[in-house]
Amino acid sequence: MDRYLIPALEQPLNGEVEISGAKNAVLAIMAATLLVDGVSEISNVPHLKDMKTMSDVFRVIGCRIDGAAHTLRIDTRGANHLEAPYELVKTMRASFYVLGPLVARFGRCRVSLPGGCAWGPRPVDLHLKGLEALGATINVTHGYVEALCEGRLKGGTFHFPVSSVGATVNILMAATLASGKSVLHNAAIEPEIDALVDYLIGMGAKIEGRGTRTLKVEGVEKLSPGSGATIPDRIEAGSFLIGAAVTRGCIKTTNMDPTHIEALLNSLREMGCKITIGDTWVEVDARDKKLKPISVKTLPHPGFPTDLQAPMMTLLATIDGLSIIQDTVYTDRFTHVAELQRLGADIKLVGDTAHVQGGKPLSSAPIMASDLRAGAALVLAALIAEGETSISRIYHIDRGYEDFENKINSLGAAVQRTQDNS
Ligand code: UD1
Repeated sequence: MDRYLIPALEQPLNGEVEISGAKNAVLAIMAATLLVDGVSEISNVPHLKDMKTMSDVFRVIGCRIDGAAHTLRIDTRGANHLEAPYELVKTMRASFYVLGPLVARFGRCRVSLPGGCAWGPRPVDLHLKGLEALGATINVTHGYVEALCEGRLKGGTFHFPVSSVGATVNILMAATLASGKSVLHNAAIEPEIDALVDYLIGMGAKIEGRGTRTLKVEGVEKLSPGSGATIPDRIEAGSFLIGAAVTRGCIKTTNMDPTHIEALLNSLREMGCKITIGDTWVEVDARDKKLKPISVKTLPHPGFPTDLQAPMMTLLATIDGLSIIQDTVYTDRFTHVAELQRLGADIKLVGDTAHVQGGKPLSSAPIMASDLRAGAALVLAALIAEGETSISRIYHIDRGYEDFENKINSLGAAVQRTQDNS
């Protein structure tokens, strides 16, 4: 297993970084290609471990996937083994997205339950209830979900009691091939959902309400193969912009959509960063700034994203005074706290809320990435910790940040990847 060795920065991070395609949008769009019998294409795809895991699931199902130069060609004509095995689903929950398209197209499939993750149980009950509302029969046995339907799924109405990205993805895809009309109330409105809706419409799906919490779908008998580019990765962009503030530097993220990260930009502005916004770029300038402590609460989009809670906590740890950060989306998503404490951060956890007494000097220690975004948070902390920090389990970071060390090193860091022999 690889790890990072990260010496403290000599200078704050400074420069420009190009943002890759959004992995979470690609994962949903890849699943959508299972709705058709043919060859679909997705461009602006990042080179990441999660893409490889999803490709492995597709190969198990019988699809062919070729990828070159950030474009994936997915040939679903051979799909005949309608199963996603535990060995793959447990390593990446988004593999569960194949459930909706497979039952909608083939009338049956078997997909492993994802199991727990570092941030708590992460249920899939809404995915299952939504598919039942479309007429699927769901049985859970031996750790697998078996979904069945006689003929086509039937259009239905489903109200999400909480906003769920994954359940919206699964049920929306299934509804596109159901007979009749489906209405999804309180659907998620994350940009990745809009990207999926656009791709599905390009395949011939009839969907109204894009960007709103009510999606209306008129099911069709057949869709055509899709093609199109994914959106830029708002979480990658946000992580680098937070990095500018953590190190009191100045970073411009390009090839992105500033409207996707307004909540983050509001928080950075509130603490005193200078923000400049263009059509497809954002610059955060924290040079020589005395930043102020703030309170942050994660919420479904357009609120502050839970995926930036951990990097934000690193930033709050650098600011004199008491900041508060509450995660209302994933209330247990705090495995990074103990690692930040090992570096010297003063953080107290009370339920779903972290009280960060910022401004304590950080010093290097061996630490461990426990999940993808926690990993990014720890890298940012290591950059300002005195001495050389070693971070193990960086395979989490490889899941979601394309070319991470090269990008961050181009801004002035000296992150080095080495083999972990411990
Ligand atoms: C997706 C993102 C993840 C992000 C999260 C929230 C992908 C591949 N992953 O995860 O990076 O952190 O959205 O923005 O896009 N819930 C239920 N029952 C369900 C499903 C969800 O109770 O069946 C709850 C969850 O426990 C959580 C909330 O709904 O409290 C939101 O979760 P959800 O939006 O579904 O997250 P994911 O789609 O798993």
